[in-house]
Amino acid sequence: MANDDQFKKVISHAKEYGYVFQSSEIYDGLSAVYDYAQNGAELKKNIRDYWWKAMVQMHDNIVGIDASIFMHPTTWKASGHVDAFNDPLIDNKDSKKRYRADVLVEDYCAKIEAKIDKEVAKAEKRFGDAFNKEEFVSTNPRVLRYTEDIETTLKRLGKSLSNEDLTDVKALIEELEIADPMTGSRNWTDVKQFNLMFGTKLGASAEHAMDLYLRPETAQGIFVNFSNVQKSGRMKIPFGIAQTGKAFRNEIVARQFIFRMREFEQMEMQFFIKPGTQMEWFEYWKEHRMKWHLSLGLGKENYRFHAHEKLAHYADAATDIEFKFPFGFKELEGIHSRTDFDLKQHEKHSGKKLQYFDHEENASYTPYVLETSIGLDRMFLAIFSNALEDETLEDGSTRTVLKLPAVLAPVKAAILPLVKKDGLPEIAKQIFEDLKWDFNVDYDEKDAVGRRYRRQDANGTPFCITVDHDTLEDNTVTIRHRDSMEQQRVKIEDLTGIIKKEVDVKHWLKKMA
Ligand code: GAP
Repeated sequence: MANDDQFKKVISHAKEYGYVFQSSEIYDGLSAVYDYAQNGAELKKNIRDYWWKAMVQMHDNIVGIDASIFMHPTTWKASGHVDAFNDPLIDNKDSKKRYRADVLVEDYCAKIEAKIDKEVAKAEKRFGDAFNKEEFVSTNPRVLRYTEDIETTLKRLGKSLSNEDLTDVKALIEELEIADPMTGSRNWTDVKQFNLMFGTKLGASAEHAMDLYLRPETAQGIFVNFSNVQKSGRMKIPFGIAQTGKAFRNEIVARQFIFRMREFEQMEMQFFIKPGTQMEWFEYWKEHRMKWHLSLGLGKENYRFHAHEKLAHYADAATDIEFKFPFGFKELEGIHSRTDFDLKQHEKHSGKKLQYFDHEENASYTPYVLETSIGLDRMFLAIFSNALEDETLEDGSTRTVLKLPAVLAPVKAAILPLVKKDGLPEIAKQIFEDLKWDFNVDYDEKDAVGRRYRRQDANGTPFCITVDHDTLEDNTVTIRHRDSMEQQRVKIEDLTGIIKKEVDVKHWLKKMA
């Protein structure tokens, strides 16, 4: 299936099966704002828990907090967001459409990358088993030219953005002959900076109201609580503070469904370390976070690191973990070495000391910070889009199946009486009552059992438990596995153990070891 079609299918499946709805849909929706529906809210919660367990519960030197969305406005002056949290925007004079200038250039590079993929696929077909991809991409003249083109373009873009040279960004767009993707027009305005923070007011009367911002990242709630947590938790460096929560950005181009939204959720962890050790920790967290991703089994080939050309104002090293979404490899998580920038800035603006006394060194210092920051909604999209498959079965029929990792699936098992009579619903309901203490389960007695299986497959439910007439005789049921469609006959009393083995967080997180 073409990537565009696959992505459209992801969006419509998310709606049809109660995962994601357009916000305020009855009023024609709100651009780039989405609601998580009954299954989506469960999936999102399970991803959040999976992250929290891996980061907080499994590290005795990481604690979690839940800071407010509203913060003192000086926070954002100190963090640099008031002055520097901008995106370069460009308008097309003919279409009146607005774009992020850097995204136009990145999309141009993505197109060249697609050409490289095509060359590789062609060569693979030609050489068959003898094909060596590494050798091909490092020697084929056409691929080398494409690669160089991408590298030079991104380097120049990074340099112009770092130097705030917006004239050169526009010149680059013109030199590359980038056209408006909607209309093909090349009639561009100059590139301007646009601040992404949403402003709001705190207070009852207009005269005394205080100007606030909705937080554009959760990280600052951690920095301003550094001393509180360190002292109250008697934390010793190195230690981390984690939190999950909403963040808001007035994105210029909000598109690609829940990939880029104006209201979204982050899962962030700031790891406070001794200055000078940041590169060691940078490598450690890169590897550790990648292991977390791989533990979910979405496929190693779907992840890659992408080192930043342009470093944010606070960072001395940064890399993204990119995922292969239906629209190509894009940022899923950021790992940033933030130096002592944030703590020093908050010290300066608050006049409060934000230092750490190191007993071993017998000295105080401002810790450096290693940050891991992942978008919960992006992780949701990565998992959901990767899971959705149209399968052709041995008998030639097809099924749509959502192969969510069992640990994250919203509903772990559906209990289905084969028929709505002969006492089968009563037994099925009793199984439902027993299992619901441990798992989120569903009871379904409508339609033929085959259709119910298909419905649960499309919903991502890892197990279907069918109660039939044999159950009346021997207290056994059929348990059907979503991915293999294999069916086993098991005792009712063994169900909890069988399901638990597959959906237990421990079973999945142990893969990180
Ligand atoms: N504290 C660092 C920070 O916020 P970031 O790279 O701007 O860094 C971190 O954001 C992560 O948050 C991204 O990797 C992405 O997964 C997610 N994210 C950022 N903007 C987003 C948006 N508009 N919609 C959805 N997720 C977003």
